[in-house]
Amino acid sequence: MDIIVAETAGFCFGVDRAVSSVRRLIEGSAGKIYTLGAVIHNPQVNDDFASRGVKIISGIEEAELPGNIVVRAHGIAKDVYEGLIREGVNVVDATCPYVKKIHNLVQEKYKEGYGIIIIGDKDHPEVKGINGWCENTAVILDSEEEVQALKESRQKVCVVAQTTITKEKWENINKCLENKFENIIKFDTICSATSQRQKEALQIAKIVDCMIVIGGRDSSNTQKLYEICKKYCFNTIKIEMPSELPLEDINKYKKVGITAGASTPDWIIKEVIGKMDELNRQENEMSFKEAFESS
Ligand code: F3S
Repeated sequence: MDIIVAETAGFCFGVDRAVSSVRRLIEGSAGKIYTLGAVIHNPQVNDDFASRGVKIISGIEEAELPGNIVVRAHGIAKDVYEGLIREGVNVVDATCPYVKKIHNLVQEKYKEGYGIIIIGDKDHPEVKGINGWCENTAVILDSEEEVQALKESRQKVCVVAQTTITKEKWENINKCLENKFENIIKFDTICSATSQRQKEALQIAKIVDCMIVIGGRDSSNTQKLYEICKKYCFNTIKIEMPSELPLEDINKYKKVGITAGASTPDWIIKEVIGKMDELNRQENEMSFKEAFESS
C-alpha cells in the first residue's frame, strides 16, 4: 500500500501560536490559567491542558481572579475583550493575526457606514467574534438560498469571509450578492493555510483509493476537508483518534491518502501513519511468507 501524507496536515500557524501561548503560561506557572472557550477544537489537546490545571470558561464570571485568561485563535467580540481589560486580568490574546485583521477591517468599514456581510457559519465562534466588531449588526450568510431571501438594496456593503470557508462557497455566494447589492466591496479573508490545505487534500483525494481525514469532531475545518475529499474519493473516512482507523477496510486499498485539520496535533497524525506502516509491514511479511511457501 502506498501512503501519501499531505504536507499541510496538522496545526496551522494560528493554532500553533495559541497552543504555544497556553504552554508558555503553564511552564511559567504564573497563577490560574483560563481559556475563554476551548483553545482549539481538539479534545485531546484540551484534555492535556485540563490535566495541567487549565480551565475552560465561557465568561469571566467563572474565573477566580486574579489570573490569566487566554483568548483563543478564533478571537472574541470587542465588548468581551474590553470587559476582560476592565476586570484587570492578564489577557493573553492568542487571536490568530489573520482573524484579527478581519476584526480591524470590519470595524473600519462599519465606521465608514458599510453594512457588513460575513460569509460563514453564524454559530461558529470565529463568526460571532467578527460580528462583535461591528456591534453585532452583520448579516451572516452560509448559502446561496439565504442570499435569495434578501431584498435588493442600494446600501453599500462590505463582504468578508470566515477564514475556513471554501473558495467555491465564497465565489458562489458573492455572485448572488452582486445581483442584490449595487455598491459592494469584497475582501477575500479566507486563510491561505486553509485554502492550501484544501487544495492539497483535493489533489491527493483525486489519485488515491481511500482518503483519511483526521481531526476533532467539532472542528469545522476538518469537516470541510472531509466534504472536499469525499467529492473526489468515495472512500473517504473521518477519524478523531488512531484507534478509530478501520484497518481491515483500509487493507484492501492500494493507495491511501492522509490529511488532517488545523487543530490536529502532530502526535495523532504520526500514530495514524505508524498504524498504517505497521499494516504495510505485516502485509509484506505475509506476501513474503506466501511466496516462500509456494516456491
Ligand atoms: Fe489562523 Fe488560518 Fe489557522 S486564520 S487559526 S492560520 S486556519
